[in-house]
Amino acid sequence: MTELYTPRLLLRPWKPEDAEPFAAMNADLEVMEHFPGCLSRIESEAMLERMVHHMRTKGWGLWAIEAPGVAPLIGFCGLWTVSFEAPFTPAVEIGWRLARPYWGNGYAFEAATAAMNFGFDALNLQEIVSFTIPANIRSWRLMERVGMTHNPADDFDHPRLPEGHPMRRHVLYRKTRGNSLSS
Ligand SMILES: CC(C)(COP(=O)(O)OP(=O)(O)OC[C@H]1O[C@@H](n2cnc3c(N)ncnc32)[C@H](O)[C@@H]1OP(=O)(O)O)[C@@H](O)C(=O)NCCC(=O)NCCS
Repeated sequence: MTELYTPRLLLRPWKPEDAEPFAAMNADLEVMEHFPGCLSRIESEAMLERMVHHMRTKGWGLWAIEAPGVAPLIGFCGLWTVSFEAPFTPAVEIGWRLARPYWGNGYAFEAATAAMNFGFDALNLQEIVSFTIPANIRSWRLMERVGMTHNPADDFDHPRLPEGHPMRRHVLYRKTRGNSLSS
């Protein structure tokens, strides 16, 4: 399974001791503000299992982010095979979530840059997408910082949310190979 190194971070496979800080992050109202809800301990463990399975079967995925000298787990970032059908699928998305104390340090940008470069350079992906709700300004600003672009014609209704749900409408960002940060 792949590990990625950046100047301040290690993106690594998950360990059993990550379960507790991962659940705490997923139970934080501020971290989960732009999701339909916080995750219960059971939901958090189920998500962790899906991430471990993806990582084991593909060798890459949503990595645990360790900040050596700061904390053994500050969040996650990485690549994920989009698991629902939409006009832009099949696709690989880039995603991220940091525990609240670690926002505002450029850690997500640093991790996302490494994951994005891995997707283009090691996996040879043609395109990486990302999506969120318009209100999640921190997330779509990060998408823009890593060089992704938004075409309003790509915006879509998330099929996992019911019609009329206030978070159903999503903005889609894309980045195509050839303008990766390392090339
Ligand atoms: C989205 C999320 C990962 C962004 O985290 P972040 O820390 O704001 O993102 P970055 O790593 O790009 O850091 C940028 C901030 O760090 C600051 N910064 C400090 N040192 C820095 C450095 N060395 N390099 C770059 N930025 C630095 C920037 O000025 C910027 O600050 P600002 O927010 O005051 O403008 C975080 O808000 C989060 O986990 N949200 C909840 C989960 C979520 O919604 N995930 C996305 C679902 S689609």
